Amino acid sequence: MSAFPKIPVFLKPFMPAVVAVIGSIPWLRTKASIWAINRAAYSTTLRPRALTLLADYTSWRSLTDREYSARHLPPATPEYMAGLPSESEVLKLFRRTEEKKDTDTSVMFMFFAQWFVDSFLATDWDDFRKNHSNHEIDLCEIYGLTKAQTDMLRAKHGGRLKVQNINGEEYPPYYFESKDGTLVVKQEFDGLHDAATMTRILTGVSYDRKKKFYAVGLAHGNSTLGNSIMNIVWVREHNRLAAMLENKHPGWDDERLFETARNIAIVLAIKLAVEEYIKHIAPWDFPIKMVDLIADRERWNRTNWCAVEFNLLYRWHMLAPETVGAGDTALTPADFLTNNKLIEDEGIESLIAWCSRARAGKIGLFNTPTYLMIPSPALNGFSVESRTIRLSREAQLKSYNDYRVAYSMKPFTKWEQLNKDPKVIEPLKELYGDIKNLEWYVGIFAEDYPRELMMGDLLTTMVANDAFTQLLSNPLLAANVYNKDTFTQEGLDEIENTKCFADIVKRNAKDPSRVYCNFAVR
Ligand code: HEM
Repeated sequence: MSAFPKIPVFLKPFMPAVVAVIGSIPWLRTKASIWAINRAAYSTTLRPRALTLLADYTSWRSLTDREYSARHLPPATPEYMAGLPSESEVLKLFRRTEEKKDTDTSVMFMFFAQWFVDSFLATDWDDFRKNHSNHEIDLCEIYGLTKAQTDMLRAKHGGRLKVQNINGEEYPPYYFESKDGTLVVKQEFDGLHDAATMTRILTGVSYDRKKKFYAVGLAHGNSTLGNSIMNIVWVREHNRLAAMLENKHPGWDDERLFETARNIAIVLAIKLAVEEYIKHIAPWDFPIKMVDLIADRERWNRTNWCAVEFNLLYRWHMLAPETVGAGDTALTPADFLTNNKLIEDEGIESLIAWCSRARAGKIGLFNTPTYLMIPSPALNGFSVESRTIRLSREAQLKSYNDYRVAYSMKPFTKWEQLNKDPKVIEPLKELYGDIKNLEWYVGIFAEDYPRELMMGDLLTTMVANDAFTQLLSNPLLAANVYNKDTFTQEGLDEIENTKCFADIVKRNAKDPSRVYCNFAVR
C-alpha cells in the first residue's frame, strides 16, 4: 500500500483545487491528516523491530540496546548477496551525467533536509551497525545530545544559549581560539565533540575557515552553509523564546527558562517538519497538519528506533546542485561547504533568499553531485556515495521487490513497471538481469514518479512511515504533556501562530522585510 492513493490521470488537474479546499476547512484538514498519517504508519509491520544490526536473531539486547540501528527486514541470503554486481558498477548508476533539477524544490528545502536528518541519523564511524544519535527529534543540532554538551552550550543565565555578537546580530560562539598562531579548542568547549571526529571533519579545511567554526550541538554543524544558517536561526529563536518567558515569568530561574524554551523550540521544529517540509514532499502540497495527540491513540506509537533502511533511503544527495543558483553570483561547492565567513559577510537573509530561489536537484539515479562522488581523505579514500553503497552491502539488505512486499505493494515483474526511461532501465537490466534481483538501495532511486511527487512510490512510503511514526511519537506531543504546564500559554500560542520556517527567520532578523524563505521555487 503506497503512502498516497493512485489518482486517475483525468482527475489530476483538479487536485490542486481539491487540496486547497481540504486545507481551508480545519476539521477536514485534521481528518485528512489523520488518514494520511495512519495510511503511511500502518503500511508495514510496527516497531519494535525484531532485528537490529547487532545480530541476525532476536535477543533481549537487540530489543533494548538502541546503540545499534534497527532493520526493517532480516538480512538477505549469502547467495543473493553473492549474485549482486560489484560496488564500483553500482556506483556508476549514481554518477551525475547531466544535472537534472527538481520541478519546484528549492535549495533551502535541501539544506533544511540535511540539517534535520543530521540530528537522528549518525552512523558510527568505526562500526557501521551503530547509530550514535538518540533517535529523537530533539534539536540536538543546537543543544547537543548529552547533558554535558548542553551545559557547555548554555549561557547559564536567563535560560539562554551562548552567543556572540557579530554586526549587531547573534551567532553561536566560535569553537576554536588562536594560541601562538595555532587554533585550539576553547577550554569551555573541551569535550563538546569527539576529538577524532573533529580531526576527520577538519581534514583539508583551511585555517581561516576553521577559525570561524561555531560551537553547536553536533560535530557536522558547520559542514555546509545550510547547517550553519539553520543553527544560527534556531539559536536565535531559542534565545528569543527564553527572553519572552523571562519577561512573563520574572521569578523563574535559568534552568526553568532554558528547559521551557527548549520544549517550545523542539515542538516548533516538529511542527515545521510536518506542516512545511513533509507538506512540500506530499503531492500537490497536501496541507498535512501536526496532529498533536494522535500517537496516544495509535498502535504505531512505540519507542523511536531508526532503521538502517531509513538511514540509507534518506541520503537524498541528488537534491544537492552543482552550484547554488546560476550566473556570476552562483555559489560553488567551495562557497557553500564549511564557509561561515560568507554567512557573516552576507548575513543570513540574503543567503536564505538566494537558496530559496535556487532549484535543488531531482532525486533519482545518475544525479549525485560530482563533489559527493569524489574519493576523499576525510572518508578514508571513499566518496560519500561509495561509502553509502558499502553500507547497504554490509547491512545485507534484501531485494527491492522484497521491500515492496513488506510495504504491502505488489512486486514488479517487468522493468518498465519501475521506470519507462530506457536510459535508466537499460543499465539496470545489464547489471541485474531480472528485476527480481534488483537491490533495494538502487531500486528506490530508480523509481519513476509523476511531477507532483519528489520521489518514487516505495521511497515515499518508506520515508513517510518512519518519519510520521517517529516525529509524532515525541514525548512532548503526548496527551498528558502537551499543555500549558509544559510550554506555558505563551509557548502554546507561539506554536499555534508559527506556520512556516520563514516566520522564525523573520522574527529573528535585523530587517524582517528583507526575508524571503521558501522550500518551493515559485
Ligand atoms: C551539499 C550538501 C551535502 C553534503 C556536502 C553532504 C555530505 C555528506 C557526508 C560527507 C556524509 C558522510 C558520509 C559518511 O560518513 O559515510 C553524509 C552523510 C549523510 N547525508 Fe549528506 N550531504 C549533503 C546533503 C544531504 C542531504 C540534502 C541529505 C538528505 C536529507 C543528506 C543525508 C545524509 C544522510 C542521511 C547521511 C548519513 C548520515 C550518517 O548516518 O552518519 N545529505 N553527507
